[in-house]
Amino acid sequence: MPELSQIVADIAAEIRATTDRGTVADYIEPLARIDPACFGIAITTADGTEHVAGDADAPFSIQSISKVFALTLALGAVGDQLWKRVGREPSGSAFNSIVQLETEHGIPRNPFINAGAIVVSDILLGRSAPGEAIGELLRFVRGLAGDEAIFIDEAVARAEQDTGFRNIALANYMRAFGNLVNSPECALGVYFHHCALAMSCRQLARAGRFLMNGGVIPETGHSIVSPQRARRINALMLTCGHYDGSGEFAYRVGLPGKSGVGGGILAVAPGIASIAVWSPGLNERGNSQLGVLALERLVARTGWSIFEPREGG
Ligand code: DON
Repeated sequence: MPELSQIVADIAAEIRATTDRGTVADYIEPLARIDPACFGIAITTADGTEHVAGDADAPFSIQSISKVFALTLALGAVGDQLWKRVGREPSGSAFNSIVQLETEHGIPRNPFINAGAIVVSDILLGRSAPGEAIGELLRFVRGLAGDEAIFIDEAVARAEQDTGFRNIALANYMRAFGNLVNSPECALGVYFHHCALAMSCRQLARAGRFLMNGGVIPETGHSIVSPQRARRINALMLTCGHYDGSGEFAYRVGLPGKSGVGGGILAVAPGIASIAVWSPGLNERGNSQLGVLALERLVARTGWSIFEPREGG
């Protein structure tokens, strides 16, 4: 295998030269104006080495990738009680779909579709004010990445709030089933703000390190979750992290991953690396078109797919 830094540089050059880049999300103005030519990739390996290329240090809206961090924090707060209110099955539906909620009595299929993430936000709120819960999540993500520069883009949060009529419907519908404890407005306030987290690929790859390393940040030895919980979050990312495109992502890439409509993807090669890619153009399922392609090429050249036979394994 060539040097990893060479592989990363080659992939960045190939992606830059690709013309069919998908469609940038345009439901809010701060996302619609992002240049589709942007591309970043960052890899943090288990031994702490970093490999980056392209726009790896440019902050972008991580959107639904934040659902991984929100879930991790909520599991820390209430443990497996969380699963009484949220399922663990792929939905096979779009991320903002409402269809399953009626037949399934207001229990969202998984924590990564919008309905599930809104319940997770309600859990993060507990009995506190939205500002406190948002502050706690921001501190948590900064701690994971070891970077105090990570911020919430207030213009994105406001735009989400002003246009999020489907999310408002989902929250009210779940409240009607008794699956929100707080007001829909407060739960949505937390949800819209965590979706508005702005991070670079480098920061995102660092924030995902605990997931590749049995719940422990390798550089600091700080334990974030148990090895069992890290494994289970990875399992959810593999089965549900790309919504109705999760099967295709597992087929092409073969890593736990979580996408966002900002065009980012966080992927985890357990025991090996935490990887972040960013290309703003989306495919028809709302996942980064060239982000998936970049990861597909990375695993093809490194053999990092979790379905690859391991030596001695
Ligand atoms: O709820 C929304 O519409 C967005 N704030 C988050 C959606 C998202 O990133 C879905 N992922 N692909």
